[in-house]
Amino acid sequence: MSDDPIVQLYPTATPAGAAGVGAASMGAAGMGAAGAGAAGVGAADMGAAGGGAAGWSAAGVGAARTPGALTDTDLLALYAPAERSVPSVRANFISSIDGSATAGGLSGGGLSSGLGAPADKRVFDLQRQLCDVVLVGAGTVRSEGYGAMLLGPDARSWRVANGLPEHPTFAIVSGRLDLDPASDVFAKAPVRPVVLTARSAGAAKRKELERVADVVDCGETRVDAEALIAALTARGLLRVHCEGGPSLLGSLVAADLLDELCLTVSPALEGGAGPRIVTAGGKAIALRPMGLDHVLLAGSMLLTKYSRRRRG
Ligand SMILES: NC(=O)c1ccc[n+]([C@@H]2O[C@H](COP(=O)([O-])OP(=O)(O)OC[C@H]3O[C@@H](n4cnc5c(N)ncnc54)[C@H](OP(=O)(O)O)[C@@H]3O)[C@@H](O)[C@H]2O)c1
Repeated sequence: MSDDPIVQLYPTATPAGAAGVGAASMGAAGMGAAGAGAAGVGAADMGAAGGGAAGWSAAGVGAARTPGALTDTDLLALYAPAERSVPSVRANFISSIDGSATAGGLSGGGLSSGLGAPADKRVFDLQRQLCDVVLVGAGTVRSEGYGAMLLGPDARSWRVANGLPEHPTFAIVSGRLDLDPASDVFAKAPVRPVVLTARSAGAAKRKELERVADVVDCGETRVDAEALIAALTARGLLRVHCEGGPSLLGSLVAADLLDELCLTVSPALEGGAGPRIVTAGGKAIALRPMGLDHVLLAGSMLLTKYSRRRRG
């Protein structure tokens, strides 16, 4: 897939006086957003989670612009947390049109081939830039070949300019602790990773991992989702960015802890062999209503963002 520019389809309305950003107005006139940053992408019309760019500077994140294309500054504004001091759990996933979370066993959601594309990788990376902690299940770390959680120089400068540590913390959820302490995930980590586990985990594996990571118990035989989020919050890691996989997301959804879902719809049919983005272990859970914050388009790929709608 080519490196398509990202344009905004929804919300379409803009603050008074700005040029339109709707799909219909994205011709030669584009969205008139050069230099507009958050304001030019409809911040006034977004829900609580959208467009919360107040206080975020754009140092080092400018990008060349084609008409209608969102810059990294625009995207950071769209994905910025509304309120940094409020704990929040966001997940970022990719799915085929027919609902598969994998193609050939991999997601391609930013790390490998498969369902992903450069536009999706770009948003994936910018979301890492915004968060306090990247949370990933051990299954995804193993299957997607995760390395150290290292950001590029522009992202690091941006974080420092915005009062954040250079890198987010990497937190891995594993009941069995079947993780290699010599792997780059740990050996090259810029920040000591956190491993969230259960008390039943083997003592020998625990000891090995404790040399390279903080190992935190969050349950007896299973990692309890509420305990794991509480453990991160207690460390000051309030903005949780979960990159998968389906089992971990299932635990978060089952515990009703997911606040935001960023879902990329990859323009492909997988055929039905792959898993869905949420695996809840076969247990039925109450429907979780979500509201649409934005829809972006890159070529034929849709990048959506939803927020939890709490029943009042
Ligand atoms: N489409 C996407 O956006 C996307 C994103 C991520 C991954 N994926 C794909 O999803 C597949 C992996 O799926 P998965 O469901 O196995 O991934 P996962 O959720 O990352 O990993 C499951 C493993 O994580 C640990 N774990 C998760 N929740 C736990 C809990 N509540 N308590 C204890 N341990 C917990 C366990 O590790 P231990 O076995 O170590 O105990 C468990 O075996 C891969 O093919 C990957 O490519 C797709």
